[in-house]
Amino acid sequence: MTRSTPVATRSRPKAPSPAAGPLKRYRSSVGKKAVMAVTGAVLVLFLIAHAIGNLKVFLGRQDFDHYSHWLRTIGEPAIPHRVFLTILEVVLVVAVILHMWAAVSLARQARRARPIRYAARPKAHENRYATHVMRYGGIVILLFVIWHLLDLTFGAVNPKGGKAEAYDKVVADFDPSRWYISLFYVVAVVLVGLHLRHGLFSAVQTLGWGRRGRYPAVRLAADVVAALLVIGFVSVPVMVTIGVVK
Ligand code: HEM
Repeated sequence: MTRSTPVATRSRPKAPSPAAGPLKRYRSSVGKKAVMAVTGAVLVLFLIAHAIGNLKVFLGRQDFDHYSHWLRTIGEPAIPHRVFLTILEVVLVVAVILHMWAAVSLARQARRARPIRYAARPKAHENRYATHVMRYGGIVILLFVIWHLLDLTFGAVNPKGGKAEAYDKVVADFDPSRWYISLFYVVAVVLVGLHLRHGLFSAVQTLGWGRRGRYPAVRLAADVVAALLVIGFVSVPVMVTIGVVK
């Protein structure tokens, strides 16, 4: 009598079902890359708008607080108070979740298709750097956003608490005595920039929007967008900490 050996199936890496042929797998990976690109675009647009909005801090307390109130009253009276902002928040949360799901899923799919690493491949070094920036950088950015919401949106970890106006919260947060908070923001924003720089370039590459010959130009454009965004964001904590904004 023969007995089945469950051990053999236990340790085998999960292979794609035979029903899912190469074409199906290719289509599903293209779909996931499209999800990454679309959600990434939503997040980039939000970041650009957010960085521009933050610069209002340089126009003074009144302008900045007015902008913060405006965010809650967009569309009033046709749209009830804070509804637009709530929709934006839901869109952002959904975009972040889908972006992460597609990233993890694509990484798993790539590992399954290539169980042995290309240790000696030229550019393996560069790829490893990009993977680290995207994977670990992405996790740090997520943790930063959670802190940031507790800090400047809800005020739970802000010296001024939740009831204060936005300007007071920002100035108290990045006070010279709290330079380490500013440093944390600067590091997080630089990681956002690195993530974006690689993400923008990959999106253009994988969606086939740029021809190979244009890659240097695409890379330069991604670098410029990321650098402008980082400078815009970083200027706020830095200028408060060195006492230019008070
Ligand atoms: C370092 C510079 C930054 C400063 C000074 C800053 C400042 C602020 C302030 C003051 C608010 C509250 C706005 C209000 O409630 O009126 C806010 C909200 C928010 N920030 Fe930032 N931010 C910075 C960077 C970032 C980055 C890099 C991200 C994302 C990666 C981000 C994501 C958000 C989100 C998701 C909200 C919540 C929007 C809402 O629903 O009200 N921020 N930020």
